[in-house]
Amino acid sequence: MCGIIGYIGKKQALPILINGLRRLEYRGYDSAGVAVSDGKKFTKIKAVGKIEKLAEKLKPLDLNGSVGIAHTRWATHGGVTEANAHPHSACADDLVIAHNGIIENYRELKEKFLKGHELKSETDTEILAHLIEVFYKGNLTEAVRTALKEVRGTYGLAAMHSDEPDKLVAARFGSPLVIGVGDGEYFLASDTSPMLAHTKEVIFLDDGEIAEISLSGLKISSLDSKNITKYSETIDWDEASAQKQGYEHFMLKEIFDQPAVFKDAIRGRYNLTEGTAHLGGLNMTSEQMHSVSRVILLACGTASYAALVGKYALERLAGIPTEVDVGSEFRYRDPIIDRNTLVFGITQSGETADTLAALREAKRKGAFVRGIVNVIGSTLARETDGGTYMHAGPELAVASTKAYTNMVAVLILYAIQFGRLNRLTQATGERLIAALLEIPTKMKEVLAQSERIKTIAEKYKDSVGMLFLGRGINYPVALEGSHKLKEISYIHSEAYPAGEMKHGANALLGPHFPVVAIMTKNQLYEKMRSSVEEVRARKSPLILIATVGDESARELADDVIYVPPTMELLEPLLNTIPLQLFAYHTAVALGRDVDRPRNLAKSVTVE
Ligand code: BG6
Repeated sequence: MCGIIGYIGKKQALPILINGLRRLEYRGYDSAGVAVSDGKKFTKIKAVGKIEKLAEKLKPLDLNGSVGIAHTRWATHGGVTEANAHPHSACADDLVIAHNGIIENYRELKEKFLKGHELKSETDTEILAHLIEVFYKGNLTEAVRTALKEVRGTYGLAAMHSDEPDKLVAARFGSPLVIGVGDGEYFLASDTSPMLAHTKEVIFLDDGEIAEISLSGLKISSLDSKNITKYSETIDWDEASAQKQGYEHFMLKEIFDQPAVFKDAIRGRYNLTEGTAHLGGLNMTSEQMHSVSRVILLACGTASYAALVGKYALERLAGIPTEVDVGSEFRYRDPIIDRNTLVFGITQSGETADTLAALREAKRKGAFVRGIVNVIGSTLARETDGGTYMHAGPELAVASTKAYTNMVAVLILYAIQFGRLNRLTQATGERLIAALLEIPTKMKEVLAQSERIKTIAEKYKDSVGMLFLGRGINYPVALEGSHKLKEISYIHSEAYPAGEMKHGANALLGPHFPVVAIMTKNQLYEKMRSSVEEVRARKSPLILIATVGDESARELADDVIYVPPTMELLEPLLNTIPLQLFAYHTAVALGRDVDRPRNLAKSVTVE
């Protein structure tokens, strides 16, 4: 996810652009750039690092101009370098664009349209700039329209051309863009936060729309050139809530981001008809992949619970023995590693010291080491010989949610990729991928219950402790649900494999001790049901996560949260969401600092 801002009006563009970027820094902050037009030519300045680095670079320059665009980057394609920072140009320097999103077919576009074009960066965005240049015949709006018709993927796009100095062109598909309507001036940005200081009149672009913004007015049209009339809205958000896009906390925004970012995690990484997955960054030959006799997943916190789901998937689909180790334990247990061991470091930040140290130990012992990372260019990403970016966008809340979901998505794709090398049939691979493609819609069905889950959470917020139960693939879900509740509500809780209850934890049960149990329809349903009946018999209040249609759950529980059915291995992608919301609403009801819980850090870079 990146931040875009544009301005056209009578004032100096530069201060508006830089201050605007500062309000968009939450959307990405590994590099930034600005392009300002003085009416004849563009001056383009870019810098690696946070916005302040760019601002320092601009200080000695006297950049005049009242039209410009700027961008703060969250790298998805290509490392964190000045060359990869936006805005991007094409062969000539008369066109500049800033882009937020993923151009999925950038390779095909390059092959088909850009022979002879010399590329200066590793980004998919630059390909789009060259494509617009190829179609430019004096009208930027039409060149953008023609180019976007060739594109598959997502974009929030801002473009300018020096032959049309009083024009900004914007286009949206999958990444937000909003136009601020001022008095003889217009603003363009990824959300409203940069424009609130100037105007509260905004027009939200919708997918498939192109806007031509000039001092003579605003023209909005569809990709197939139909004129569209849109009306401005008056927004009453303050800047902080605008950055959270109206959500009360970043954590809630990130929980609701999950359907969209899940699509980014799988985008371009599967082949439905062949029932296969292909994670290009793995950087292993076919024989190396066949030589893998064991997988070890190293992670901490929430990432370790995603890793547990990965264990089930890799063993069931690929038949490869898989272990999960928390980073802080791994190297002190003298792990047995050989050159047929594949070790993944799974980490949102890519900076967690325990995970890094464990991975370095594995590397010393000769294992294949790969990363599943969110932050591009992070330490772990650089120290591994390949891996996969989970494309969850910046995750700002300390408690991880969308990164967890995308870790699970990537691990399931790896299980399919390795599985299809041997035991996994095309038919099963196809069914798994088809089921993955339905996940975003099913996630939204669960998210729609947020208010009801809030009511349930408020009933139990004063509990002294809680128990989370699951079996099989839902045991890691129980672990993550318990982890979420602990880390943001500070209520003590723990998770148990339901079958273990009779060997001790039953002693805890009673009216004072609520239990959350995941009893969805899968191969262990009957076994889980009998565990739940044991809990019921001991009078613990019971919250059930059950499959839509399982009406019998209502007789067993005080509260039931229904989730849509899916293939068993994919259940964590849905069953975890009610537990994220349960923890979130409990923490809010208790007045906790949800985005910044006490004693915790977003990434612990010390051992
Ligand atoms: C902790 C965070 O500090 O680090 C957790 O509070 C997170 O939410 C854990 O799961 C691991 O972080 P990372 O960046 O390695 O996934």
